[in-house]
Amino acid sequence: MKLKARHTFFILSALFLIYSVSIYLKPLSVNTDDRFDKTAAANGKLVWQTYNCQACHQLYGLGGYLGPDLTNILSQTGKGEALVKAMLKTGTKQMPAFQLTEKETHELIDFLKSTNASGSADPRNFENTNFGMIERYETK
Ligand code: HEC
Repeated sequence: MKLKARHTFFILSALFLIYSVSIYLKPLSVNTDDRFDKTAAANGKLVWQTYNCQACHQLYGLGGYLGPDLTNILSQTGKGEALVKAMLKTGTKQMPAFQLTEKETHELIDFLKSTNASGSADPRNFENTNFGMIERYETK
């Protein structure tokens, strides 16, 4: 009985060592995603936070509800990078214009590329009625 317990202990120890070595032989993190630049996207998230886009816009369905969800803005038909840049430059009646630098704009776009690649917005759509109520409607 005692010998068996000792064997089990040695076998598990050996497996633990082999597993540990194999884990540490792997490179820690590799940027294999060519859909967006990871560093730029990380900086772009800070731009997003600095200018508080979240106050009015949602990502993955969460955020403020004055403006539309921007998770997939880059891949939506009729929208995309040019629209984002134009909105930032000119704004609208409801959205302020932002004086972003070229670099900030580029990084923000990369951040939106990363949200576009990692998830999808809430597929439900809402419409403001004349009485100040919100009603849901289906697009598809
Ligand atoms: C004060 C609220 C507010 C803030 C802050 C704000 N937006 Fe907006 N945004 C809006 C509203 C409202 C609209 C819809 C405008 C319209 O249709 O007139 C909009 C529209 C947009 C659109 C076009 C979306 C579409 O589907 O047509 C983009 C892109 C956009 N905003 C990007 C941003 C970014 C990026 C930031 C942060 C730098 C930001 N917005 C900050 C209110 C805001």
